[in-house]
Amino acid sequence: MDKVVIVMPAWNESDNIKRMIAELVDKELPQINAEMHLLVVDNYSKDDTAKIVEEASKTRNNVHIIQQGDKSGLGWAYIAGFKYAVSKLGADAVMEMDADFQHPPRFVKPMVEAYLEGADYVIGSRYIPGGSIPKEWAFFRKFISFAGNLFIRLVLLKPRIHDLTTGFRLTRVKGVLDKMDLDNLMEPGRFAHKVHLLYQAIKNSKKVVEVPLEFASRTQEKSKFNTKEMIATFKVAIILGIKDKIRFIKFGTVGFLGFMVNFIGIRVFRGMGLAETLAWLFATELAIINNYTLNNIWTFKEAKIGGLGKTIFKFLQFNVTSAGALAIQSIFGPLGVRLVGVRFDWLVLAVVVVLMVLPYNYLMYNLVIWKTWKLPWAKKANA
Ligand code: GDD
Ligand code: MN
Repeated sequence: MDKVVIVMPAWNESDNIKRMIAELVDKELPQINAEMHLLVVDNYSKDDTAKIVEEASKTRNNVHIIQQGDKSGLGWAYIAGFKYAVSKLGADAVMEMDADFQHPPRFVKPMVEAYLEGADYVIGSRYIPGGSIPKEWAFFRKFISFAGNLFIRLVLLKPRIHDLTTGFRLTRVKGVLDKMDLDNLMEPGRFAHKVHLLYQAIKNSKKVVEVPLEFASRTQEKSKFNTKEMIATFKVAIILGIKDKIRFIKFGTVGFLGFMVNFIGIRVFRGMGLAETLAWLFATELAIINNYTLNNIWTFKEAKIGGLGKTIFKFLQFNVTSAGALAIQSIFGPLGVRLVGVRFDWLVLAVVVVLMVLPYNYLMYNLVIWKTWKLPWAKKANA
């Protein structure tokens, strides 16, 4: 049977944690078709949180508690909890869940079921049908929650995922959590770490599933979320968003330099008295050499091609794929001009380059030349 450990940070939650053990551990978990454990991560609460959990663990072998150490903040609690769940409890999957009943215990079962059906990462989502945020929240709070999510979704380019900041999730250990770098988690002291966890989990997951979550309002005490936390969350999203696109940005830069080389080259060769066709030919080849070299030592430096034989082969291959780009341009350019008129040739050029030539080149570089992408079926064959 699969072992699922619910990692539950709790800080001064004695009332909640008492109820949580009664309702989650004693009522909900036995109904789930997996070996379910609760691991409370306390941060030296000033109330009875630790005492209550320790007491409960004496009569239940699936209740555990650890102290997160001297670093305070939710992310640190999860780092300590995940590590303990994997190394000490032998978890096959870990869950993130709050102790304050904002994640009602009845939603644990559908999350675990999605995992048992093959999901690598399960997201308890407030923004899909069936999910919700508290009706009693003020309009502004609702707006912030919704808009913040939308913003992160756009920045990270994750349109298929609807809730990127939820605190209710499940992560498979093998192949996902064990590939994640918990020691370098961004903003571990803040809520913002959630976005970095999500980012890493999605990167390593083949199957991501969202399950509806009715996010309840907090019954006891006040939320620790505030503007500072929100700004930190956006910051993490933006940094990760850029990091993800950095190769594409370099590719674009090299492409632009190539264009300049081509542009200046034509004039230089023409000035040297070369025939027009030859001037274009030489300038184009110069741009190709420029693009190959810069992409090789910069854009794709992690997959750099070296050695004389390999370089010659790859460079010839690069010329062939570049000819493909040229072909696309010389077929769709005139076609577009016929459609919208020669007055808009600049628009045609822009559209053809941005929508066709750039994606084509990027695809070829990643798939054929530097082979940094693997097709899904190739991935399977290698694994
Ligand atoms: N051990 C430990 N240490 N636990 C903590 C700490 C800490 O420093 N800070 C908070 N907790 C525990 C709380 O006791 C609670 O169980 C849980 O973490 C969530 O804290 P809340 O203060 O209730 O967070 P929230 O309701 O404002 O935020 C929720 O929504 C956010 C945005 O959607 C959480 O679900 C967040 O995870 C989520 O990002
Ligand atoms: Mn809460």
